[in-house]
Amino acid sequence: MINQTLLDNAAKKFREHFGKPHTIAAYAPGRVEILGNHTDYNEGFVLSAAINMGAVFLASPSNNTTCRLIAGDITEETSFDISAVNRSEKNLWQNYVAGVLASLREHGKINTGFNGIFFGNVPLGAGLSSSAALEMAAGLAFCALYGINIDKLTLAKIGQRAEHEYAGAKCGLLDQISSLYGKANNLVMTDFRSLAVQNIPMDSNACFLMCNTNVKHRLVDGEYNERREKCEMAAKFFASELSHPVSALRDVSWEEYTKLSSVMDPVTAKRAAHVIGENTRVLKGKELLAKKDLCAFGQLMYESHESSRTNFENSCKELDFVVSQAKHIPGVLGARLSGGGFGGSVVILIHPRDAETAGKTLTAIYKKEFGMPCDIRIITPSDGATVL
Ligand code: GLA
Repeated sequence: MINQTLLDNAAKKFREHFGKPHTIAAYAPGRVEILGNHTDYNEGFVLSAAINMGAVFLASPSNNTTCRLIAGDITEETSFDISAVNRSEKNLWQNYVAGVLASLREHGKINTGFNGIFFGNVPLGAGLSSSAALEMAAGLAFCALYGINIDKLTLAKIGQRAEHEYAGAKCGLLDQISSLYGKANNLVMTDFRSLAVQNIPMDSNACFLMCNTNVKHRLVDGEYNERREKCEMAAKFFASELSHPVSALRDVSWEEYTKLSSVMDPVTAKRAAHVIGENTRVLKGKELLAKKDLCAFGQLMYESHESSRTNFENSCKELDFVVSQAKHIPGVLGARLSGGGFGGSVVILIHPRDAETAGKTLTAIYKKEFGMPCDIRIITPSDGATVL
């Protein structure tokens, strides 16, 4: 669901900057993680959704080898030669686009330059994957521009590689897959081992509120990568103790965990408890959605947050405050931190009739507690990325 104003504004800016209209436009949404935290790179399960905010990427071919790229939101411009698509230390935003472009070269001929501009309305640093939206919008635009044919999963992996090699975050595939496979009024259920993706209809008796705490953790990539290492260490430990093969925490049951946790390094054990618990919760949550038991689903969201707070230690006082206050607001069914953590947003499951009032209540109590505003929006599960 592209916001028409976003597209019109981008088209106008494109003409102003490059003197003629764009020839290609692509749009990709951000995502919200509903249940399943840090399970993607552990080959587990996640319920997510593409959201009604995203990034639009407009382009046209140039008649030489120069690539001119404009970050519309911040009006910064960069240019590079198509033979030198490198990582930039100066323009960090450029890395998401350059990283995608560099990998796409392995799938087709990219010898000429382009003029490109992007705009987005996903709040930055809010845990809603503004970077994946940019990668996927840029990826689709480049595929159209250079006549490259790849499937969605390949594009998702190209976005992930841009994060790993150009941006420095060892993320899983959740953000890119959600952005590509979203469907209006549906959640996205992904098995991150088989990479099977399923759309699950969302009950119209509930909707999602996002509460962006406006807290951005300074060391977020470092913390994220460190958590990932601990999960991999835990998987190695279980592989050496259990008689069946273990290549990721996905292979470890809760029973196996409880039998062995006391002989593990305590921090590694807590990280493993989070991931193994989350996998169980996502599978349970999928069944509850099928039964339309939103109350029980909401309880799983609270449990997920509690596990983030105590086991994975990727929450912060602002996120904890929002979750604990949400519990007392009429109509709220569940709440948890969404995404990498260490700041960012809380996703709240709520009866649609109560959403607006709940938003106002939370805004007021957050301001009173922290002296700064939080941003609340109603999130609609939306269609995935597309060439326009
Ligand atoms: C970030 C990463 C995802 C995923 C989530 C946590 O959004 O980019 O790959 O690991 O954190 O679930």
